[in-house]
Amino acid sequence: MKKRNIIAISILSANFAVLGNYIKMLEEINFGCWIHFDIMDGHFVPNIALGSSVVKSLRKFTKLFFDIHLMVTNPEKYWKDFQRAGADLITFHSEIKYDKKKLIKNIKLSRTKVGISINPETSISTIEKFLPYIDIILIMSVNPGFSGQNFMKSIISKIENIKKIIDKNKYHCLIEIDGGIDFQTAKICTSAGADVLVSGNYVFSSKNFIEAIKSISL
Ligand code: DX5
Ligand code: ZN
Repeated sequence: MKKRNIIAISILSANFAVLGNYIKMLEEINFGCWIHFDIMDGHFVPNIALGSSVVKSLRKFTKLFFDIHLMVTNPEKYWKDFQRAGADLITFHSEIKYDKKKLIKNIKLSRTKVGISINPETSISTIEKFLPYIDIILIMSVNPGFSGQNFMKSIISKIENIKKIIDKNKYHCLIEIDGGIDFQTAKICTSAGADVLVSGNYVFSSKNFIEAIKSISL
């Protein structure tokens, strides 16, 4: 029996004035939801978003799993701030120039889980060699930078192909999908092999936040 997928709530599109209420609701339903923090430097992506101070303040407030998505050109400079702020998982992008193997090793040495993210146009071959060493592969189903974009169907075959590689080699790496997840695309991604689904706009713009989460927890 396949385990239910994990839902990572992207707070980029949350109403920050009442963010604490949403987090309390997530704790009450006890679905094991993650909190997905989109960190943007205005250089790797054309937007600026959350910083480590938001992670630090929420860490005191909840025990939920913190999933940090670094959309930054120099993650080697910034990942430690997020680890100290209370990150459970730190994901950087495969498109950066820095030594990825060294970055994976350093993040793991801090006893934090580590992931690599690939943009829609980035091929699996660029990250295949890292799969044995990482805890999660974050597959972008939108071009990174903004919440509320449409899901790119072209990444479905990418999920299936990565799932085949992971299963064939018995890697422990989870597959996380990020961008445009709603009750339709959640089904498609889960049957293609996704383990974790990031959702922001769909859950926060729905009339009922919890019902929306239940509709994508498959
Ligand atoms: C986009 C971010 C995503 C985004 C997801 O660059 O990485 O996490 O906020 O939000 P939705 O679910 O609205 O696409
Ligand atoms: Zn993200």
